[in-house]
Amino acid sequence: MSQVERGMSQVDDLTAGVQEILIDEATLQGRIRELGAEIAEDYRGRDLLLIGVLKGAVFFMADLMRQLDIPCEVDFMAISSYGAGIDSSGVVRILKDLDVSIEDRNVLVVEDIVDSGLTLSYLLRNLEARRPTSLEVCALLTKPERRENDVPCRYIGFEIPNRFVIGYGLDFAERYRNLPYIGVLREELVAQAEA
Ligand code: PRP
Repeated sequence: MSQVERGMSQVDDLTAGVQEILIDEATLQGRIRELGAEIAEDYRGRDLLLIGVLKGAVFFMADLMRQLDIPCEVDFMAISSYGAGIDSSGVVRILKDLDVSIEDRNVLVVEDIVDSGLTLSYLLRNLEARRPTSLEVCALLTKPERRENDVPCRYIGFEIPNRFVIGYGLDFAERYRNLPYIGVLREELVAQAEA
């Protein structure tokens, strides 16, 4: 394969950056159905507001919400805690705040991944100060090995090892979010990200 062809394959082939599939689409969707059923039972008869953290959680939020057979609302926040690299810079900034007040509401924060816990820990403190009736977290993925801040997650999809994961909302340099499964980023690309 020529240099040009190799370059093209990175542009054209979405799966070129995937080393292996960690959680396939059927397993992912099966677990989301279970989470949806559990959440619907817990919140039945109560007002529920789901808060998604952009951008990664959009895919999980959309599928999870469709599994809830109870009335609920959705809002989004955008938070910046990372630079171009893969480690937390320690800086958390609100880029987009909620459109609605959460005072006296049952709030469920929906995250795609809890890594160090820094983002969520900041977010929970911030939201708690707005006096919701209840505040819980549903995270599709957690990396227990990476946890620095102890954050209470009521609902967890999968505990995963400390690998660079992409797909289903998770990106590498803003790409790969549209893969329908959770994959592991190819080693050469991880090395690039760490360089
Ligand atoms: C990811 C993820 C969480 C955060 C988790 O977002 O969606 O918000 O990192 O990491 P932490 O537990 O170490 O704080 P990211 O900043 O990559 O933004 P994105 O969702 O727009 O990709």
